[in-house]
Amino acid sequence: AFLAAFTFNTPVFAAKPLVIGFSQVGAESEWRTANTVSVKDAAKKDGITLKFADAQQKQENQVKAIRSFIAQRVDLIAFSPVVESGWDTVLREAKAAKIPVILTDRAVNVSDPSLYATFIGSDFVEEGRRAGRWLLERAKKTPDTVINIVELQGTVGSAPALDRKKGFEEVIAGNPKLKVLRSQTGDFTRAKGKEVMEAFLKAEGKKINVLYAHNDDMAIGAIQAIEEAGLKPGKDIVVISIDGVKGAFEAMIAGKLNVTVECSPLLGPQLMQLARDVVAGKPVPKRVVTQEGVFPAEVAAKEFPNRKY
Ligand code: AHR
Repeated sequence: AFLAAFTFNTPVFAAKPLVIGFSQVGAESEWRTANTVSVKDAAKKDGITLKFADAQQKQENQVKAIRSFIAQRVDLIAFSPVVESGWDTVLREAKAAKIPVILTDRAVNVSDPSLYATFIGSDFVEEGRRAGRWLLERAKKTPDTVINIVELQGTVGSAPALDRKKGFEEVIAGNPKLKVLRSQTGDFTRAKGKEVMEAFLKAEGKKINVLYAHNDDMAIGAIQAIEEAGLKPGKDIVVISIDGVKGAFEAMIAGKLNVTVECSPLLGPQLMQLARDVVAGKPVPKRVVTQEGVFPAEVAAKEFPNRKY
């Protein structure tokens, strides 16, 4: 009996659980909260030990977290970089310590691509293009009218803010009637989205025809500002945003938001799989792009029950 208990109940030769250090951007949006849940749940399900650090949207906190993961000798570091640049030094430190790095959600701008193993996340430029294409289609109904746009950008220097701006601009350049009146950061939060929209409304008033927000949270904040200014969001001002969170679907069902371009935060399961492969020395693709759609208000009620975040 002793031998049986020893053989079957004591995991003498069981593999050590994988330890991943994960540095998250923060908790700035509904998207981010869903992303954190996805990563934590996937790690738990796979028996992976996750050391989680919230950077509160500050690069210096992410650098500190990464250095602490290196000191703790985790098996792998994953992180969603708050901004694109300024990562060379700390990533070289991880490489020197032979700890592989996976980028999730956001890209970095580094001179040496061998500083990370792979990057899993959305194509943000394409998301911007999708938002632009939706507007271009809508503008076809009023070919002779000038359409004045205001833009709420995401966090300054972040990949989604830079890329969503670029993709949108690239597409709307095809129609000279589409004009961006103002463009400012709302830092991906509801509070800042509202604040900046109030300023846009003060400066431009009824001239504004369209709001393009780089995420749903800023759009939801801005919708409040539009209502407080006595205007109807979704009608007087067309509202376009990105993410596809439940809050955006609710706003579409209420007729206050016109379209959301999907950006999936549910990266956890794929991240864990990639982490296992990287640590096992298996080849992985350098870039894994998330598959996503576009949801206009017309389909919101039908799609709402299928939404997972
Ligand atoms: O990096 C993804 C972006 O970050 C999401 O669109 C936004 O909501 C989040 O804060």
